Amino acid sequence: NILSAKSLMPSQLLLGVNVDHIATIRQARRTRYPDPVQAALQAEQAGADGITMHLREDRRHIVDSDVKRLREVLLTRLNLEMALTNEMLDFACAVRPHWVCLVPEKREELTTEGGLDLRLKPNEMRQGIAKLHEQGIKVSLFIDPETESLQRAQQLGASCVELHTGGYADNPQDASQLKRIVRAAASGDKLGLQINVGHGLHYHNVQAIAAIEQIVELNIGHAIVARALFVGLERAVADMRRLMQQARGFSRQQD
Ligand code: PXP
Repeated sequence: NILSAKSLMPSQLLLGVNVDHIATIRQARRTRYPDPVQAALQAEQAGADGITMHLREDRRHIVDSDVKRLREVLLTRLNLEMALTNEMLDFACAVRPHWVCLVPEKREELTTEGGLDLRLKPNEMRQGIAKLHEQGIKVSLFIDPETESLQRAQQLGASCVELHTGGYADNPQDASQLKRIVRAAASGDKLGLQINVGHGLHYHNVQAIAAIEQIVELNIGHAIVARALFVGLERAVADMRRLMQQARGFSRQQD
């Protein structure tokens, strides 16, 4: 019976590693080290399914040449996180990452603070997504885990969303935050959207999220880079992957 066989099979769960904070350390001294490209290759060797770099308008960590160099040498998938501006669209179309994740961006923020407000400039968003698709680049929209945003994402032509897990990560005592993500993952999946998640996930809060069966990919940066200081990057990536797979129900042999 195909249906019951499928229900016994854990669904695919991918780890995307964000290497921005390797570049944060480099930029703190404007040195040539540590190299986020070197880190990305090591993360890939350790089992990362893809690498994310966020090229910010202010170039506070990742710079243009990091993305270009990584595109040349990465064996898995490059996910370029960026704001929807003409400059960034041109850059993405020239470099052609496998994925673009569109995010809101404010210069004064410490990190991406909220999801995209898809009520703003829908035509610009629709055209931007279409332009990236024309280049064969897959697009995800970073949104808060709300039904309305999921519906708008679909109407704008996106086939994938990344649900913002910051509300969950910042409020560990508040069970309603996890429920929001569970509900959004289910309703986004019903709309036919690929469901990714990210932001603020770490070794102690990742499993409740990884257990949500509709989720395809987790994008994690800060916690992995921080742990790498003590155990090395390969082990930090492998530890995260193992926790994720355990939560999703993969046995050791399958891992
Ligand atoms: N996903 C998006 C869209 C982000 O902006 C970030 C932070 O750069 C992440 C995932 C990774 O978040 P963290 O560094 O907290 O793991």
